[in-house]
Amino acid sequence: MSVLSGKKIVLGISGGIAAYKTASLVRLLVKAGAEVRVVMTPSAKDFVTPLTLSTLSKNPVFSSFYNDDEKEADSSRNGEQALAQWNNHVELGLWADLMLIAPATANTLSKMATGNSDNFLVAVYLSAKCPVYFAPAMDLDMYTHPSTLGSFQRLQQFGNVMIPAESGELASGLIGQGRMAEPENIVSFLESDIASKLPLKGKKILVTAGPTYEAIDPVRFIGNHSSGKMGYDIAKEAASAGAEVILVSGPTHLTLQKSGVEVIRVTSAQQMYEACHAHFADVDVAVAAAAVADYRPKKAADQKIKKTAAEFAIELEKTQDILASLGQIKQSQYLIGFALETENEIANAEQKIRKKNLDLIVLNSLRDQGAGFGHETNKVTFIDKDFNRESHDLKSKEAVASDIIHKIIAHYA
Ligand code: CTP
Repeated sequence: MSVLSGKKIVLGISGGIAAYKTASLVRLLVKAGAEVRVVMTPSAKDFVTPLTLSTLSKNPVFSSFYNDDEKEADSSRNGEQALAQWNNHVELGLWADLMLIAPATANTLSKMATGNSDNFLVAVYLSAKCPVYFAPAMDLDMYTHPSTLGSFQRLQQFGNVMIPAESGELASGLIGQGRMAEPENIVSFLESDIASKLPLKGKKILVTAGPTYEAIDPVRFIGNHSSGKMGYDIAKEAASAGAEVILVSGPTHLTLQKSGVEVIRVTSAQQMYEACHAHFADVDVAVAAAAVADYRPKKAADQKIKKTAAEFAIELEKTQDILASLGQIKQSQYLIGFALETENEIANAEQKIRKKNLDLIVLNSLRDQGAGFGHETNKVTFIDKDFNRESHDLKSKEAVASDIIHKIIAHYA
């Protein structure tokens, strides 16, 4: 999945011949999973129509501070004073996760560099708090003019990222640098630049998820109701933040196909223990979200057990505590565990931090409505190794996963 998936992108189009390529650009961004809103300078409309771009982006296209169409419709309807609709550049600027100006003409770049917001595109640019990329397009001599080079430099000093123009035949017939980067190249530039700046880039994270099944005989087992959702959401969020993830999953119907995530499927606590220990030395962080069976049948029967006896007992033995065993051998790894409690929640969780040598514990109480097994939501309290507490409201497991990932990011910040 592309890192652009789910991103809200404002595409600013200024008036150069390369604007005709923005139809492909919008399609590629949408195909990568982004939501695109297009902003055009008035002269960009001479090169590509708003209708084309609104159709491809499935969103209205903005090009002025007020909506012209609205004005005309209102005045023809009743002959009264037109009520033009104000297009809010601040809202659009703040909506965006990313702003891309392509093509960026010498004129628009100069306005951006000097803050001359006499058009809607530059006003949105000045309001945007997100990363801004610009893909210049202009003729050879304009591209190398000291004035243009000054705009490039100034905008990059502001933290904006330049997607350099490509070389080739230009609209004027001249040959050289100035052609807007091809839409495919712009998209791959964005993808690799974003990926390289993700907060957990270069970090490796081990996550355990789901229940474990402890065999009684070839057809029966001791298990629990864990769905695995919490662990899978943590793995997903970690990968979205740029981490390389090893997800050791007990039996669950969930699947996760995401670049950066390797899923290792196991059944029993012993198999989960072995998979975790095979990888722990290589990881920076481990999050134990699995509901590991604490006990297993001392001996699993080789054949299916027949119902002959009136009473039947299974002798159980303790499984290994995977998290505690990782706590014992950890070097620099940041170790996160979960605690699901029904009483004396804080005291029990703090005891687990000490006993298992954790850096952070995620406590959820079965006394809280909507928390724990089988729910789409969870209500957690974070307690760190110094016993600092942070209580969160009831939220979706995705949101809890995101909070956990933010704790990890903060640890490395
Ligand atoms: N855990 C583990 N291996 C086990 C048991 C638990 O890795 N054999 C991990 C869980 O993934 C969780 C944490 O330990 O992160 C807490 O598990 P929990 O079952 O709540 O605590 P226990 O230590 O088993 O204690 P108790 O059941 O007595 O509350």
